Amino acid sequence: MVNLWFEIAMSFWILFPAYAANGFPPFARGKRPIDFGMRLKDGKRIFGDGKTFEGLFLGLLAGTLVGIAETLAMPYLNVYASQWNVQMIPMSIFTGFMISLGALVGDMCGSFIKRRIGMERGADAPLLDQLNFVFGTIVFAYFFTTITVWMIIIMFLVTPVIHRVACIIGYRLKIKQVPW
Ligand code: CTP
Ligand code: MG
Repeated sequence: MVNLWFEIAMSFWILFPAYAANGFPPFARGKRPIDFGMRLKDGKRIFGDGKTFEGLFLGLLAGTLVGIAETLAMPYLNVYASQWNVQMIPMSIFTGFMISLGALVGDMCGSFIKRRIGMERGADAPLLDQLNFVFGTIVFAYFFTTITVWMIIIMFLVTPVIHRVACIIGYRLKIKQVPW
């Protein structure tokens, strides 16, 4: 029997650093594009002006800080977890950093795809915009910590809803230029 509540909790355990890494870059108001303004043969930018070094570094910092907080909380949470005969998925500074990097690399892959199919920076790409960073998070979590099939399913189900709400809030607060 799958312990669904634990799988849900562990999904967010991995997603929190990723959400921070994906959510903080707009605050950087970055000016230095990661692709240095370069274009591919199709005449389109590699990533576009929406992927900047400032955003990348702020995302890595925010996500790693969440990872550090989880690392510190882990021993205490394991006391509770052991009462349910489960163990928290291991978190460390390194794991937190890698999950954050995974989220940001996934986000860049999403922009790369958008540019290749001719979508402008900031154009609305339903599902791709919400899930690009989840793909990256899952791949990196697979290599650097533990992730189950149930967690992958849960991550894909909860993230579009949470992403949508967060973007609308970011837009209202004038942190984001568009509500998606
Ligand atoms: N951002 C950044 N650096 C990153 C990721 C994001 O500076 N590595 C900032 C940019 O200001 C970006 C904003 O966060 O505009 C929102 O990110 P996102 O929605 O992913 O970018 P878009 O502008 O929508 O660009 P794209 O069409 O490439 O997704
Ligand atoms: Mg966008």
